[in-house]
Amino acid sequence: MNNLTKARRIAAAAMALMTACAAGITSAQAAPQGDPAPQGEPARYGPGAPGSGDPYFPSAGNGGYDVLHYDLDLRYSPPSDPAVPAGKLTAEATITLRATQNLDALNFDLRGLAVTAVDVDGKDVNHGAGPSDWTQVQDDASRTWELTVGLRPKLKAGQKAAITIDYGGTTGRPEDTTGALYGWVTTADGAMVVSEPDGAPTWYPVNDDPEDKATYSFHITVPEGKTAVANGLPGGKPETKAGWTTWTWEARDPMASYLATASIGDFTLSYGKGPHGLPIINAVDRGVTGPALEKTNAALALQPQMIAFLSDLFGPYPFEAFGAIVDDDSVDYALETQTRPVYSEVADEDTVVHELGHQWFGNSVSPADWKDIWLNEGWATYIQWLWAEHQGKSTVAKQFTDTVADLDSKNLWGLNIADPGRDNLFAEQVYHRGAAALHALRAKIGDQAFFAGAKEWLDRYSNSSATTEDFENVMEEASGRQLDAFFNDWLREGDRPAMP
Ligand code: TRP
Ligand code: ZN
Repeated sequence: MNNLTKARRIAAAAMALMTACAAGITSAQAAPQGDPAPQGEPARYGPGAPGSGDPYFPSAGNGGYDVLHYDLDLRYSPPSDPAVPAGKLTAEATITLRATQNLDALNFDLRGLAVTAVDVDGKDVNHGAGPSDWTQVQDDASRTWELTVGLRPKLKAGQKAAITIDYGGTTGRPEDTTGALYGWVTTADGAMVVSEPDGAPTWYPVNDDPEDKATYSFHITVPEGKTAVANGLPGGKPETKAGWTTWTWEARDPMASYLATASIGDFTLSYGKGPHGLPIINAVDRGVTGPALEKTNAALALQPQMIAFLSDLFGPYPFEAFGAIVDDDSVDYALETQTRPVYSEVADEDTVVHELGHQWFGNSVSPADWKDIWLNEGWATYIQWLWAEHQGKSTVAKQFTDTVADLDSKNLWGLNIADPGRDNLFAEQVYHRGAAALHALRAKIGDQAFFAGAKEWLDRYSNSSATTEDFENVMEEASGRQLDAFFNDWLREGDRPAMP
């Protein structure tokens, strides 16, 4: 589900990568792009771009197609020695997509895993045997991890294809550009899968662009006794054969690639209900015990109330299910994986409401570009303030004042949170200045316009993605006011803004 703006930027990304190719990284993408032919001539075919134009992650995502569905068949052996974080993944992904331009080749992002076979619409694509071959580029230095698949017959704009990719390898503990663990994180008892921002290619071939949402099916085969938990709802009972159990999960709501999970461990599953019968499925690692478990259970028990509270403020919960995956391994923070956030070691109340808030802000409405990240983290943090006030723990006004004082004392007004830079995506300013900006906006335009604007934002861009400028426009419409100067002061300028 790409949009037009994106199509324009894809050309620029293609040029950037073609320059890299010319520098000797690969020649697979050096063919001319599939430009539209002049009037009256047959349309030209070309390869889709190997990146989707995000300035922070130029090689992430791909051009020329829109993924409709990922069917992921994963077989995983957790580490044989718990002290050595190396698992074994053998997988087959079937990706159903629609071409958005005339294509003779297209790319997927796949990092650190080796492809063994590719099928297009059931026909084998022979490695290295001509125009319908496939090639893999793995260049850590330029963060270029591409699988290029030749298409014969070629694919006409608007046509669908199902591409099946067999792949696998040894899993480890990948890191993002800042050194934080993410992606398929191998744990002593399985894997904790948390891919924001660009970690999805560490476990499946993907158009890793939050603008290309798709539905997912997961079939996860693990040694009998292990539990595999993904997004959405179970697709039937787990099936055991010859010491291996296959867990099936279906995620029917469109989802950005970084929000997919397939976490594996010694989990205990529990099933409950939220408002209007919403299924809530929690998976808690049997290694979480004592005070951490008590805290976790207390926080998870509040999920139905939290959902009711946020639905009143922002409109119906956007997805088919909710719940939690609590792993005893540590990545130090939690991720809002769609319908089922992942927590490490403990799920505390503040974090649970934060990750729940992301289901509306970040998951239903996703950032169009990574620089729009404050729309995720600012809102999720503001939702923590709203919940704390609702629970009688503090007021939003006090949390605002305290946050501003904290930003003052740490001298944190210098960062433009509407374009924080690749390695500042999750800097504390993005969370705290972001939440403060939302509260200042509410103070400026009033409760009525603020909450009406928030609902309009969620309504207009649900199951889609949008930019900071889109958000500013919605809030200007909701309030009938010109807010350029306000947003510049609160998001972008390097000085402390005037207080409301
Ligand atoms: N979005 C997460 C949050 O709720 C933070 C985060 C970013 C993260 N990247 C991650 C967590 C990777 C786990 C793994 O604030
Ligand atoms: Zn967050």
